[in-house]
Amino acid sequence: MNKYIPTQEIGKGGYGTVFKAKHYQDDTIVAIKRIQMSENEEGIKNSTLREVAISKSNNHPNLVKLIEMIPDIKENVVYCVYEFMPMDLRAYIRQNPGIKENTARTIIRQVLQGLDQLHKMDIIHRDMKPHNVLIDPSTLQVKIIDFGLAREFTLQPVPLSCSCGTKFFLAPELMLGQSKYTKTSDIWGVGLILSQLFSNKYIFPCRENEEGLQKIFSIMGSPKGELLQKFRECPRWTQDYEGQPGTGFDEFMPGASKNAIDLFVHLIDLDWESRYTAEQALKHKWFDEIVE
Ligand SMILES: Nc1ncnc2c1ncn2[C@@H]1O[C@H](COP(=O)(O)OP(=O)(O)O)[C@@H](O)[C@H]1O
Ligand SMILES: [Mg+2]
Repeated sequence: MNKYIPTQEIGKGGYGTVFKAKHYQDDTIVAIKRIQMSENEEGIKNSTLREVAISKSNNHPNLVKLIEMIPDIKENVVYCVYEFMPMDLRAYIRQNPGIKENTARTIIRQVLQGLDQLHKMDIIHRDMKPHNVLIDPSTLQVKIIDFGLAREFTLQPVPLSCSCGTKFFLAPELMLGQSKYTKTSDIWGVGLILSQLFSNKYIFPCRENEEGLQKIFSIMGSPKGELLQKFRECPRWTQDYEGQPGTGFDEFMPGASKNAIDLFVHLIDLDWESRYTAEQALKHKWFDEIVE
């Protein structure tokens, strides 16, 4: 670790602290995540090693590159050194209210391209939200971070009260107790990022799953027909969620074009089996529109 000089703390998530630092020789700027391993850790799991290998070897422009990993055995800590990006999407949205549709398109396309690459490698992100997407505001270059690596290390659940609002982005099937994350549960998060770009608002903020589900169905309408049968089979389904007409999401996609709304609807399809994949989403006509 001696070759890097920390300059400032830039993030604190559920799993570790992130510092901005510079290389002592060539002034390269990096972001270093300090991950405290739990006391009873018995070595690093194979799945983690696989992800590390992928993060290190990937050259996808929309996935953050892991430069190196430096273990500190005495402290039971691992330092992950990443390429540095100026800010995350949450900060960018806050600083740039009223983002133009073209900008939203450029951002979402890159998020989908990064996610498509992860999914093709059979990695499910599990925490798609603006916090986990980095952006360079001057070039609009976007990179996904935090793909499961730290979660594999520490085995600790994200605290419920986590201010980064992980729950806000959780797909309904997961809130309903379907135990497996799927690729399309990542896509739900991308849909919510899209609406946040347009509205600068969280569409389904919640503290608990039940509250989240109530919000989702009150806006989108409860599932009906065959889809309702499918939802009724989920472990935490209750009748309370049924029969809501849905108030619509106009206020969460203000000023959006018809095509942007059409894509949004497919990204937040309640049916996790017909919800778009990243590959399908990238073929949506919204991305064919001319970008000035
Ligand atoms: N490579 C990076 N460049 C700039 N900022 C980063 C970088 N990696 C992480 N951050 C900042 O640190 C925060 C936490 O990092 P993350 O990897 O998501 O950790 P956690 O597992 O704690 O969520 C991010 O939301 C972002 O603001
Ligand atoms: Mg994170």
